[in-house]
Amino acid sequence: MRQIGLMGGSFNPIHLAHVHLAREALSGGYADEVIFLPTGNPPHKGAELAGRQERYEMTCLAVAGEARMSVSREEIDREGVIYTVDTLRTLHARMPDAQFVYLIGADTLLLLPTWRSIETVITLCGFLVCMRPGEDDAKAREAASLWRARGAQVAFMNAARMDISSTDIRRRLREGLPVKGMLDARVERYIRERGLYGTQGTDGTVGMKREKIMYKLKKELDAQRYTHTLGVEETARQMALLFGEDPQKAALAGLLHDCAKCMTLTQMVKAAKGVPLDPVMKESKALMHAVAGMCVAKNVYGVDDPDVLGAIRWHTTGHAGMTRLEKIIYLADMIEPSRKPYPGLEEIRALCWKGLDLAMHTALTMSLEHVVSQGKTLHPDTLAALQEYEHE
Ligand SMILES: [Fe+2]
Ligand SMILES: [Fe+2]
Repeated sequence: MRQIGLMGGSFNPIHLAHVHLAREALSGGYADEVIFLPTGNPPHKGAELAGRQERYEMTCLAVAGEARMSVSREEIDREGVIYTVDTLRTLHARMPDAQFVYLIGADTLLLLPTWRSIETVITLCGFLVCMRPGEDDAKAREAASLWRARGAQVAFMNAARMDISSTDIRRRLREGLPVKGMLDARVERYIRERGLYGTQGTDGTVGMKREKIMYKLKKELDAQRYTHTLGVEETARQMALLFGEDPQKAALAGLLHDCAKCMTLTQMVKAAKGVPLDPVMKESKALMHAVAGMCVAKNVYGVDDPDVLGAIRWHTTGHAGMTRLEKIIYLADMIEPSRKPYPGLEEIRALCWKGLDLAMHTALTMSLEHVVSQGKTLHPDTLAALQEYEHE
């Protein structure tokens, strides 16, 4: 049976020791995969607690690229006090072929009697106890044997535990002290950009603020295109979190990718003045709006980030050597929730959460089949993008 390790916590913020523990549980064979469960509303942490969406996003960033680790919204989306027993029931219903083991510290082991419906909890999951250096081993082992006598599965993991605490990290951030070696670099950047935990905050938005962009987009786009844009923004953000890309850049590129879509072809060509255009492109609104969009994003919306501009530029054709951000926007555009159903949509949608290249290869192949079925030819840039995958 599949053994799933559960890491609960407020992850306020998630730090390197959390991920280290999950890695140890996996490499030690204690679990086949680990699911992080950021909690929605932990008691006693009011003032210093980052928002639930922020804690969720930081957790996604910290595990992005880690094999066999994922983040669940199960607890973060729940209102009111959250009990482990409810979470376990839901997880069992969702994954009936899995066994669960909760990763806990020795301190938590001693607190188990305070858990709601603990008698039920011990029938729904086992416990993997991770000891902190210098912790009272005897006391924990005694507690473990008492719980075992009541039918609980309790194992100990002999992994060196890194001595890092979120409380300490928050204090250091507040006091302007370095947190190197404590936080994932992507998480640290996320915190500083948003000014969490008393940091300065460097508004990560390049160019206009989001509200201003939205106001302008709403005027420039028709209602359907505007809804589509918001769908791409959110899908791109989620994909960025999953694949270790900057979620703010992805969101901004998603928001602006179709900013020129509702112009006339003449307006598009005019907006793209100075950019070399091939004859096919100049005749096609479907292709031209991407190049025009890049120029409008730069000149009207004040975006100067080349990564964001590139993602807008290449979202219709793709090209050889696409960046991770470009792939994310290309795909998010195809799968965002308000997309009208087309053949292959569900397949692409599923692939997008598995791997960018897998999804890109399939998406480009579908484009080829689509244009061929219409008696047309693929744009040379799209062909070049596809050929990269075919030659692997
Ligand atoms: Fe587009
Ligand atoms: Fe689009």
